[in-house]
Amino acid sequence: MGLELNTEEKAMLNGDYGIATKKAMEIITTLGTIYGAERLIPISSVQIAGVSYHNLGEAGLEYLDEMAEDGTTQVLTTLNPAGMDLEEWKKHGISEDFAENQQRVVDAFSKMGVVTTCTCTPYLIGNLPHYGEHIAWAESSAVCFANSVIGARTNREGGPSALAAALTGRTAEYGLHLEKNRNAQITYEIEANIEETDDFGLLGQVIGERTGNKIPYITGIEHASTEELKSFGASVATFGGVAIYHMEGITPNRTTIPEETEIVTKDELESARVKLDDEDADIDFISIGCPHASIKEIARVAEILKGKKIAAGKTVWITTARPTKDLARKMGYYDIIENAGAYLVSDACCAVAPLKGRFTGLMTDSAKACFYARGKNDFRTKIRTVEECLEEAIK
Ligand code: F3S
Repeated sequence: MGLELNTEEKAMLNGDYGIATKKAMEIITTLGTIYGAERLIPISSVQIAGVSYHNLGEAGLEYLDEMAEDGTTQVLTTLNPAGMDLEEWKKHGISEDFAENQQRVVDAFSKMGVVTTCTCTPYLIGNLPHYGEHIAWAESSAVCFANSVIGARTNREGGPSALAAALTGRTAEYGLHLEKNRNAQITYEIEANIEETDDFGLLGQVIGERTGNKIPYITGIEHASTEELKSFGASVATFGGVAIYHMEGITPNRTTIPEETEIVTKDELESARVKLDDEDADIDFISIGCPHASIKEIARVAEILKGKKIAAGKTVWITTARPTKDLARKMGYYDIIENAGAYLVSDACCAVAPLKGRFTGLMTDSAKACFYARGKNDFRTKIRTVEECLEEAIK
């Protein structure tokens, strides 16, 4: 049985709702046909990735401008980080040229009705689906969080397919939208103390590298905060192809427990740390907030930096969503952090901002940030706890 469309969907495909909607429907039905979907389903939330002008370039921007001619979002839609803080970009060393182009990208999305908070943690600032809800998100760390921690249902969308879902309010029913594809496939027993965000990132690295696309069922974790789970999800999605995991006693999804079991030891986590640590790294850049920092993480950074000064030759970025930055201003955290000489950067992150050539060594608590710092920016890296990162910044 092939993909069947209802009357409204056929009209969208026919062009009755405009050119952008027609193009969007073509993308969705093509994907649905490729993956054997039998129908389209309504979605309630979209998260679009591929927002930085650094990654999009002129060709990407041209496509967005075309879609913005007559396209309008049908559901709540938010954006992944852009290449700069949309308000304070100048003081972060971003060029006028880049800023102008980045603003054109954001304007195109805005014209379509996208809520232009640029963050990879939309669930912290109001784009928060509930258990079982069908959504279409593109950012891999957010996809992992949504499927696993919230129990919402999304495939790992690409930028264009997420936009297509936003413009039609639909996605094709295949992959992780179907209960049968969400079952765990391999059990990982953790025999190590996993405590801080960097540990959870390293655990994500170990499991991601081992599991590939297999859905992990993880046992042996007694407690995990939202911040630790976002770090784990970002990492397991980066180092493997994981879009959903189950963590015993912590995540809400129903699953059978796989018999095939592998142990993860303390030594393996240490080896993962060694892999991300470049001995010759000369640290001149420290970044916290990958995925984007919560208000709780920012409060902790402010507490550590209170009355301190960032050392000469070091740059510190704490990256977060704009609404969280606004809240941090209200709470006085912004002033404490900026008076210390660090930057509270919203809308952007150290992986998608145009930073290549500006720094040589990154210290961070995020395994994912290390991965991209090496791959995209040629930085040397070190992964440490948040405290250790900030100690490095002020020493
Ligand atoms: Fe978010 Fe950028 Fe990290 S998009 S997950 S802060 S690499």
